[in-house]
Order: sequence, then structure tokens, then C-alpha cells
Amino acid sequence: MKSVSFVLVGLLAQYASAFPGMGNMRKEAGVLPRKPVAEPASTSSSASGNYPAWHPAQKGEVRSPCPGLNSLANHDICPRSGKGYTIPILIDCLKRGLNVGADFSTVVGTAGIASNPNPLPSGLYFDLDMLDRHDFVIEHDGSLSRADATTGDNHSFNQTIWDSVLAYYSGMTDATIPVAAKARYNRISTEAARDPNFSYSPVQFILSYGETALYLSTMGDPITGVAPLEYVRSLFEEEKLPYELGWQPPKVPTTLASLGAMVLQLNAESGETIPEGVILGENSLRAVLIGLNAATGEIENNALYALAKLTGALGSLGGTLKSLTGS
Ligand code: HEM
Repeated sequence: MKSVSFVLVGLLAQYASAFPGMGNMRKEAGVLPRKPVAEPASTSSSASGNYPAWHPAQKGEVRSPCPGLNSLANHDICPRSGKGYTIPILIDCLKRGLNVGADFSTVVGTAGIASNPNPLPSGLYFDLDMLDRHDFVIEHDGSLSRADATTGDNHSFNQTIWDSVLAYYSGMTDATIPVAAKARYNRISTEAARDPNFSYSPVQFILSYGETALYLSTMGDPITGVAPLEYVRSLFEEEKLPYELGWQPPKVPTTLASLGAMVLQLNAESGETIPEGVILGENSLRAVLIGLNAATGEIENNALYALAKLTGALGSLGGTLKSLTGS
């Protein structure tokens, strides 16, 4: 594999002497004012609208490093307990909550189940806190709102890190593909430069783009990627779906195809070098979520691939392989 430019960029990036998350000082110039913390809802729907009540996790409930799943759980759209997430549960609640298609829910849910340390004997499910498992499939370094695993907390929302993303949106009311792309790449470059254990494989490269595509798609528009910034902030900062601000699930579904197309646009805007042999898009996104090498289509993660056989995530594998290998 040829040398990858993110390492160089990382080395050239401004050196930061300490990890973020040690304090919540708003150091960056031009950062938007912090949102007030939301009040928990006590009834099943708000007086001002017909949407599911929100409250953060309570004793015995668990949450994840994913603002999307946490928000859905906080509204009890996905199980509020944060436990026992199966593929059928995910297909249903991601559809109802965010209009995410079954194709994506099946493959990302399979990768989630792979984070369960004992998926076969205990059943094909995961609990949200199992998603903290680092570098196995989904959880990775250089996140938008979480610190790297090296710091000891890759799970909790980190205001300092998130502020470094928000700084890119200074003066804007909407998140957009070009700006989101630069904010994401800055997070990768920053951690590459300062985290001695930074890891960033092609799997994480693709999934990290996918996560940026997810917030733009579900808080805004899966085609244009334009999302009101206040909606995005509600998702990350309060882990709350922004119904009260006027948000409704997008009418256009978020699918593997829409995410793949947006990943491609995000990469074009970031200018980041693509790992050798990888063709960004729907098929490489699906490939990494079912344990295949995104460049060659070969099985790379045996445990994940075995799970994908059981959950139905292999789907149109023939098409995926053909597209990856060009054969
Ligand atoms: C079964 C479904 C899902 C699973 C298993 C899952 C899992 C994860 C995990 C493990 C992370 C942490 C990655 C990291 O280390 O940064 C993550 C991040 C993320 N997820 Fe999800 N996710 C799912 C669905 C969704 C959905 C539907 C959304 C829609 C908003 C979403 C939005 C995000 C975003 C924006 C991040 C990036 C957070 C950051 O970088 O700070 N996810 N997800």
C-alpha cells in the first residue's frame, strides 16, 4: 500500500501538546455559543408537538459513542434501555426515527453486533455500550465529538473536540458538504499528529466519511447534504432529535446508495488521499461493514463476515465483489 497522505498531513498539522477533553474551555476563536442543555421531557409527547418524549439515559440504561443511536434511544424510538439491539429492531427504529433504509441498517447493525464480545452464544444483538470497542469495526480515532481511545474515554461527548468542528461553521446557519468535509479532515489530521497510538485503516477511513454523511443526511437532506446547523448541534450536543426546532425525518430515505454518493463528494471536497485500490461509494461502504477488504473484495474480518451471513447483510454480495474487483 502506498504511503498515505493523511500521515504526512498529520505530521505537518499544528502540534497540540495535550489531548482535548481535559477541560471544556472554549478556546477557539469564532466558536458558536453553546446551546443550553435540554430539559428532560416527562410526558409521552410534548404540548407543542406530536413527537416522542425525550430524556437522557437513566440508571441501568446504556448509551454509545454514536450520537444517532443515542438520540433515538433518548426518545425511546430505539429501545431506551440501550440493550438488546437486533437487526429487526434496528431496521424498524432507524426507519421510523430517521428514515434510514433497511439496506444500511442491516449492514451497520451487523457491524454493531460484531462489537458484542460474544455474539453467537448470546444472540445476534448488541448493547449500545458495546460499541465502545475500539478499532474492531466501527469505533475509531479522529472522531468529530469523541476523544481517541488512547485518552481512556472514546465514549463521551467531548465539547472541546466538537468545538473544533463547530469552528468551521462559524457564521453559517447550515452544515454543508464542503465545510463538513474540511472539519472532518481536520479531526483526522489533528489526531494523527498528536495521538501516538493513532490508527486509521481503510475501514475507518470509509466509515468516518460515512458518519459525516449520516449527520448531513438525517438532519438535513440525503441528496444535497445541507442540514440546519442547529439541528446538527441538537443531535451531537443534546443527543436529541430536533423536533422542537421544526425538524422532521427527511422525506428522502438515507440508504447505502445515498451515503455512498455523499462519501464520494465529501472526499472530493476534503482532498484527502484515498487508500490505494479503494473505489469510494456504496460498494466500498457495504464491503467494510460486512468484513470485506474495500479494495480487493477479499474476506478481511472473518468474524464479521460470518455474522453477515447470519444477519442477511451479505445481500447482493455478487454485485459488491464485482464492483470492487472490476471483474
Ligand atoms: C446500527 C446503526 C448504527 C451503529 C451500530 C452505529 C455505530 C456508531 C459508532 C460505534 C460510532 C463511533 C465511531 C467513532 O469512533 O467515532 C458512531 C459514530 C457516529 N454515528 Fe453511528 N451508528 C449507527 C447508526 C447511526 C445513524 C442512523 C446515525 C444518524 C445520525 C449515526 C450517526 C453517527 C455519527 C454522526 C457519528 C460520528 C460521531 C463522531 O465522530 O463524533 N449513526 N456510530
